Amino acid sequence: MSPDELNRREMLFRGAALLPATMLLGCAGDELPAEVPTVADTTAQPAPDGSARLEPTAACTDDDDDPTLEQTEGPFFSPGSPLRRSLLEPGTRGRRLVVTGLVLSANCRPVGRAVLEFWQADADGEYDNEGFTLRGHQRTDADGRYRLETVVPGAYPGRTRHLHVKVSRARSSAVLTTQLYFPGEAANRNDGLYDRTLAMRVGRSGRVRTGRFDFVLA
Ligand SMILES: [Fe+2]
Repeated sequence: MSPDELNRREMLFRGAALLPATMLLGCAGDELPAEVPTVADTTAQPAPDGSARLEPTAACTDDDDDPTLEQTEGPFFSPGSPLRRSLLEPGTRGRRLVVTGLVLSANCRPVGRAVLEFWQADADGEYDNEGFTLRGHQRTDADGRYRLETVVPGAYPGRTRHLHVKVSRARSSAVLTTQLYFPGEAANRNDGLYDRTLAMRVGRSGRVRTGRFDFVLA
């Protein structure tokens, strides 16, 4: 990828990578308080000090990027999740996690209005198979950016920590189904599905864990 392309991608991503100040409030401990207000959908705004900026990943390193690896959706997908960027609800327990990134085409162009649907286990490794706790879908903005507010999922027997996601273009029936992982987890070694190409670039901003991942659609 040319330097111009790198710069363009960095500019595209800056807004999405910055954590709004509202997100940093009320995060004094690793666990959320028993009653935490739902964080409304927000358009990412630069933090005043710019401290939460994440560096671009190496996702688009040449002109012919491989599409993101597909993985099984597993047994716990439920269609019809609510439209929301924040999966946090009153009473949600766990370390807060913000995942940001881009949806890109195979030639490294941002895909606006792409649909991302996320679902995951809670901090105890349990899925809500009755309702839509920790499930939701959203669309990328015109620059292909997405932003998910949630909590770090718990591992469960046989699986390391992971997020499930489906990504599709607007008005397309083709769906990328995959999973995102946390690098450095001991359980990654024993999980047959773990793939390092699906590991997020993780960091932290105060007590909030951050993850960065760019999806490349075929
Ligand atoms: Fe799972």
